[in-house]
Amino acid sequence: MPIQKTIHGWLIETQHSAYALGLNPAGLLAHCYWGPRLPFTADYPPPPAPAEWSSFDMPAHLTPEEYPAHAALRFGEPCLSLVFADGTRDLVLGFVEASIDGEELHITLRDEALQLALTLHYRAHPAYDLIERWVTISNQGHQPLRIERVWSALWHLPPADYPYRLSHLTGRWADELRLRRERMPQGTTVLESRRLTSSHHHHPAFALDRGDASEEHGEVWFGALAWSGNWKLAAELTDFGATRLGIGLNDWDFAWQLGPGEQFVTPACYGGYSQHGFGPMSRALHDLVRDQLLPHHNAPRKVLYNSWEATAFAVDLASQSRLAELAAAMGVELFVMDDGWFHGRDSDRAGLGDWWPDQRKFPQGLNPLIERVNGLGMDFGLWVEPEMVSPDSELYRAHPDWAIHFPSRPPSTARNQLILNLARPDVQEHLIGLLDTLLAAHNIAFVKWDMNRNVSEPGWPSAPGEPREIWVRYVQGLYHVWGELRRRHPSVIWQSCSGGGGRADLGILRLADQIWVSDNTEPTARLHIQEGFSQFYPASTMEAWVTDMGAAHLSLEYRFHVSMCGALGVGGNLLHWSADQRAEAAALIARYKAVRHIVQAGDLFRLRSPAASPISALQYVSKDRSASLLFVFRTHMPPQLALPPILLRGLDPQARYTVEGIAEPRSGAAWMQIGLNLDRAELQDFQSTMRLIQQVNHG
Ligand code: GLA
Repeated sequence: MPIQKTIHGWLIETQHSAYALGLNPAGLLAHCYWGPRLPFTADYPPPPAPAEWSSFDMPAHLTPEEYPAHAALRFGEPCLSLVFADGTRDLVLGFVEASIDGEELHITLRDEALQLALTLHYRAHPAYDLIERWVTISNQGHQPLRIERVWSALWHLPPADYPYRLSHLTGRWADELRLRRERMPQGTTVLESRRLTSSHHHHPAFALDRGDASEEHGEVWFGALAWSGNWKLAAELTDFGATRLGIGLNDWDFAWQLGPGEQFVTPACYGGYSQHGFGPMSRALHDLVRDQLLPHHNAPRKVLYNSWEATAFAVDLASQSRLAELAAAMGVELFVMDDGWFHGRDSDRAGLGDWWPDQRKFPQGLNPLIERVNGLGMDFGLWVEPEMVSPDSELYRAHPDWAIHFPSRPPSTARNQLILNLARPDVQEHLIGLLDTLLAAHNIAFVKWDMNRNVSEPGWPSAPGEPREIWVRYVQGLYHVWGELRRRHPSVIWQSCSGGGGRADLGILRLADQIWVSDNTEPTARLHIQEGFSQFYPASTMEAWVTDMGAAHLSLEYRFHVSMCGALGVGGNLLHWSADQRAEAAALIARYKAVRHIVQAGDLFRLRSPAASPISALQYVSKDRSASLLFVFRTHMPPQLALPPILLRGLDPQARYTVEGIAEPRSGAAWMQIGLNLDRAELQDFQSTMRLIQQVNHG
């Protein structure tokens, strides 16, 4: 039983972790424990008794409440801020009931005077060592109320002598998903997105440790929000030394009108505890994403070719057929035509919104090209950017009011485009109709869904109610459109792209099997971007193309090896690749196909970080530990230095393994303890190696 009622409250146990909460003597729902699973139920502490410091810091402020509201003598970051019809901005929440339903726990609190019910939901994922949390607000009164903040969860950390260290991902376009680890300062650290997407700039996921955790050692508490719009994370080190982290929808410019009888349900936040460093954190999330969130779970990701860097907007039957022939000869399995194929699209100045084939470029439509691609043995994929509209488009001329805007001022364009208001049901239905027609009329196996700007002038002039609901209703509309298309075309594989990794999050991974991680494909930059991405997301979702970026200073093999750490694709201009280069690429693609199941469905071990050393290394291990794949990358290192041994991980210590290129098998224990000694001549500056590791006599 992962969830049980105890004498102190409720206990949620996963395979290795536990989480406990209960009502304290003052009747407040308090956090009791989050950490390793303990032997006996009686081991878990009771809810802390109310403490008082002075008239300035009363018990309500000092209690580690599970979900504190903006109310009474509380001064920390609240999870919930409401304004009632009579102007009250305060909640008195009393316990009503709790129910355990298999792996779910639901606890309802209620403000009797204001007739407001709050239900905290917990779902245990025992096999993944994860807990999923979300919240429902129910207006049981007779007047509407306004929600000004509603978060998904507050996570309390155990008391510590030193500030916790916060790990998070940050960056900007073409430089996103950079891993940062920094000690929490006193006060509140806020990370957020105000951009309508989860954003390139900050990332809705975190890890907290005591400052000493590594890939394999040290306690780590972590979480990730399943939401693809504005979000906020507030990590607080309080004046009393408590550490708490709240996460959920961003309250910036947000308001939601909740009518009598209505409910509001927040997105989910997944949280977990690892006793052995960041590695188990990542592997738990990778498993959850693959097994539970992704539409196509562990189905092998096909090697794709994308035309963007070769032909940009100049696509037509001849240019795409030529690329397709070259790609097919290299063993590519999926040919994706990027931007430029639809009505009026010759540059980024026109066409978005008019999602039918351009008559001049494709006079017979797309089917002749699709048949050609299919005839070459490949699937066909297409680029779209459904949320956007070019002012120079049929759609905008017919429906200028469909763009997000304020009536009193011209909307700002970015990349010459505006954003359609997906909060509007008519816009949603229009997009579903148009894209459904496109998918029904063509044999399209893959769609790259792009989103190339952030929001401005977030107005919704015809909003039926509170216009600031746009932030949430837009994302709900996006999920509805995408979800409906997925339902009607279940075999299509979708990729989420927002100018690279601008919309990478657990929410979008319920719709998209792959993420275009960055528009920066220079491989040494990519080592860092991929390390950041891998903290929370599995390699199967990490689409990685070999392009011409880096070709001047890096071998084709190096560029392939970097991309082979994820779902391999090719995006270089094949028209400029020599026959020798294409033959080398074909051999590397064949090699990838033979081992991709280890990368895409296996366990990841980050052996050496590119941030810490010019010799970085990654290892993937199949779930049954019979096979593994090692990648080692060298950037610049003084030639006099010896190469460090590469200590392998994740092998069965008692089994014997061979490492490709090394004659003698050794035990898993020896490979992990002594490691692999590469010769300096084997791995010079900007060289890489990929080694298959196989268990001897397996099967
Ligand atoms: C974005 C994407 C690119 C490409 C272009 C097309 O920048 O990230 O991969 O699809 O749009 O306009």
